Amino acid sequence: KTPYDSLNNNNYLVAIAVNMRESPTHKTGRESMSAKIIDGKQIAAEIRESVREDIASRIARGHRAPGLAVVLVGNDHASQVYVRKKREACEHAGIISSAYDLPAATSQDQLLTLIEELNANDSIDGILVQLPLPRQINEATVIDAIHPDKDVDGFHPYNIGRLTQRNPLLRPCTPWGIILLLDHVGEAYKGRHAVIVGASNIVGRPMCLELLLAGATTTVCHRFTNDLEAHVGRADILIVAVGKPGVVKGEWIKPGATVIDVGINRREDGTLTGDVDFATASERAAWITPVPGGVGPMTVAVLLRNTLEAASRHDSVV
Ligand code: GUN
Repeated sequence: KTPYDSLNNNNYLVAIAVNMRESPTHKTGRESMSAKIIDGKQIAAEIRESVREDIASRIARGHRAPGLAVVLVGNDHASQVYVRKKREACEHAGIISSAYDLPAATSQDQLLTLIEELNANDSIDGILVQLPLPRQINEATVIDAIHPDKDVDGFHPYNIGRLTQRNPLLRPCTPWGIILLLDHVGEAYKGRHAVIVGASNIVGRPMCLELLLAGATTTVCHRFTNDLEAHVGRADILIVAVGKPGVVKGEWIKPGATVIDVGINRREDGTLTGDVDFATASERAAWITPVPGGVGPMTVAVLLRNTLEAASRHDSVV
């Protein structure tokens, strides 16, 4: 009998730390937990496949393929990588993605003119403007200009307002992707305390709205929060979206918590790491997302789902 025999044989769940627990270098004097990995890559692949099938059947019914405009302004390396992944995923799912790669010196007016054209273009169902934008462009003005029906990022005040009022339409991709991960591991939400570290418009704030909608009690921590450790220690569900490696120490985590690490940080050697100390966190958590292969693939999968949703709604009005 190997140590692996007792593990859940569900494909998505890979128990880790079996070796760590038995390793002399990890003797802590008490029974340490071995977190199960939430395999976002696998879960996202299933969502992408279901979107691909839905698009194929939509085309078989005589509808056109959904169209997504992907707008990238400037040369930010991380944004270029994310946009390439989004475009590849579109192609595989049967979504026609049109690339608008604009120079870093693009003016706000030039970008707004493009968005007006895309709003009026009936073959475009979704518009994605990759953030961050260069300094001369105001992000809020650009997001406001996207027609809410084509706002596949779910960032427009209309869509955020719908989520706030518990009647969501197009939902921000990363927070909704995280909810799908939590659903996947059987999170019950009600009576559970969710702590979100980071209050950005893209992740932290809409994440709070999603978790409220799901029935959790929520706390949002940010740069002005005192005693982050105490808040983190009360989290049954911990979401960390700051963009700083090690901002949450593994020892702070409540034993048995579910830990979702949204950070994607590049180390000097080129490898990626999250915001949470993974090795120590996984000794205490029950579930944890890896970086890479946790939240990142879900953001892309949900974008495809939102684009299909926007196309289906668009069909009924064109
Ligand atoms: N930058 C980082 N995350 C996102 C996202 O989900 N959408 C867009 N448009 N930009 C981002």
